[in-house]
Amino acid sequence: MNILITGGAGFIGSNFIIYWLKKYARDNIINLDALTYAGNLANLNSVANLPNYRFIKGNICNSRLVSNIIRDIDIIVHFAAESHVDRSITDPGIFLETNIYGTHLLLKAALKNKIKRFHHISTDEVFGSLLLKDKNKFNEKTPYHPRSPYAASKAAADHLVLSFCHTYGLPVTITNCSNNYGPFQHPEKLIPLTITNIIENIKVPLYGDGKNIRDWLYVEDHCRAIELVLKEGRVGETYCVGGLLKDVSNLAVIKMIFRLLQGNENLLTFVPDRPGHDRKYAIDWSKIKRELGWQPRYSLEACLVKTVNWYKNNRSWWQSLKNRQFQAYFKKQYPDL
Ligand SMILES: NC(=O)c1ccc[n+]([C@@H]2O[C@H](COP(=O)([O-])OP(=O)(O)OC[C@H]3O[C@@H](n4cnc5c(N)ncnc54)[C@H](O)[C@@H]3O)[C@@H](O)[C@H]2O)c1
Repeated sequence: MNILITGGAGFIGSNFIIYWLKKYARDNIINLDALTYAGNLANLNSVANLPNYRFIKGNICNSRLVSNIIRDIDIIVHFAAESHVDRSITDPGIFLETNIYGTHLLLKAALKNKIKRFHHISTDEVFGSLLLKDKNKFNEKTPYHPRSPYAASKAAADHLVLSFCHTYGLPVTITNCSNNYGPFQHPEKLIPLTITNIIENIKVPLYGDGKNIRDWLYVEDHCRAIELVLKEGRVGETYCVGGLLKDVSNLAVIKMIFRLLQGNENLLTFVPDRPGHDRKYAIDWSKIKRELGWQPRYSLEACLVKTVNWYKNNRSWWQSLKNRQFQAYFKKQYPDL
């Protein structure tokens, strides 16, 4: 099988490529990635020399390039996106371009080439925000109510993907997943930022009162969910994917990391809240469990240990990302630190 992965040099895409090639050694993978600040070929060192893996540097918004690449492709797994909410608040334009327009171009190319499956990677953020006291969770029937430019761009992309299925018969599936963590996640995101700042003994920012709740999923569990949807998922369907059964606040996650690293808790610094900050996400993943037998295998406690150890053992990987450009971004994002 020939698979096109978009955004495969990013966090989840690279984990997925490594996962897939280990399991399906006879499949061919093409990884199309523009290598924005978030793309990093070092994530793929372990597969870079395999004969059935090929990297192409390019933008999904380049329709001529996409049409050339897509000719012999059976399946597209579409990860490429601008993915950081904070950056979408500062500069929404690029989010609309990549996440909406780029997805639309890929869909058109997929249709023209009679692709057997277009799988779109989406997020639980399209559903908006729950209240801290809410007992209900997001599921596949929850109306969309995106509240950040990032979430709005992903919501628009989801609608486009489903519209190509209903209008033109393109065989699509979507997964709406909660927050991932694990190896190769860019240090701008909450968990790696906390780990790496503690290791470097610099201040750890936390938005607002830290009571915001996220549903955390270890990235390998997400890769397994995508695999199952590709193999056994029903065309035209969306599947919610999440990791936790109990609520865990951002503050609690950060405190767990401080304990694991025996870090100095005085580094923890509350900073003014993110504008429009969603209070709570919680995901009901009973549909994918019922239909495909998926459930998370890994606990947050066990996998935070694994993740912290990975960052401890791969210092050069993240230190190269915390470069001058990153420092400038960090200063602008957290001027009070
Ligand atoms: N990280 C999470 O917690 C999470 C949760 C749910 C869903 N998602 C979704 O999963 C996908 C992957 O997320 P991630 O965390 O790995 O993101 P990431 O930011 O780590 O990686 C995105 C990748 O896409 C590439 N890219 C960006 N614009 C491109 C373009 N125009 N053309 C080609 N490549 C481009 C980047 O170079 C990068 O390699 C995204 O669609 C995101 O919305 C992420």
